[in-house]
Amino acid sequence: MNDLVPVSLLVNGVRYDAAIRPWRTLLEVLRETLALTGTKRSCGEGQCGACTVLIDGRAVNACLYLAVEAQGKEIQTIEGPAAGDPVLAQIQRSFATKGAIQCGFCTPGMVIAARALLAERAQPSEDEIRAALVGHLCRCTGYVQIIEAIQDAAGALARDAAPVAARVGS
Ligand code: FES
Ligand code: FES
Repeated sequence: MNDLVPVSLLVNGVRYDAAIRPWRTLLEVLRETLALTGTKRSCGEGQCGACTVLIDGRAVNACLYLAVEAQGKEIQTIEGPAAGDPVLAQIQRSFATKGAIQCGFCTPGMVIAARALLAERAQPSEDEIRAALVGHLCRCTGYVQIIEAIQDAAGALARDAAPVAARVGS
């Protein structure tokens, strides 16, 4: 019996059409069908945050989300800068410059969580950053550099957004 169903997914501004089994998760389809392997799989059961993507701007665990339910929605992954997201690109730069990446396995999920946070709060407090990272596990960094990277990204984006006169203090 053919149990494949057609899906049409909008990922980072690109339309992907595929035939999948209806119970496959968005994480499986991103990685195995669309070859978008930037989104990581670790626990596979909603505990670690490694698989976090944005769906209509909201951070979700792709390992718990059926691909068929993502149809008609905008999906953003860590590959997002290719589709022209300067905020995501700045967060990635700040993670690199602040040393917030060691093994890197948690990093895509952390960066996507930061992207969702900065969309809601341009200048989040440290407590708000910590709250946004609940459910995101990192075995390497101790989280301090990750928090600093998000603060750095928020600061850089604010400077970029400021009028030139304000930036030169006149
Ligand atoms: S792989 Fe999805 S939360 Fe861990
Ligand atoms: S950098 Fe290794 S798990 Fe976070």
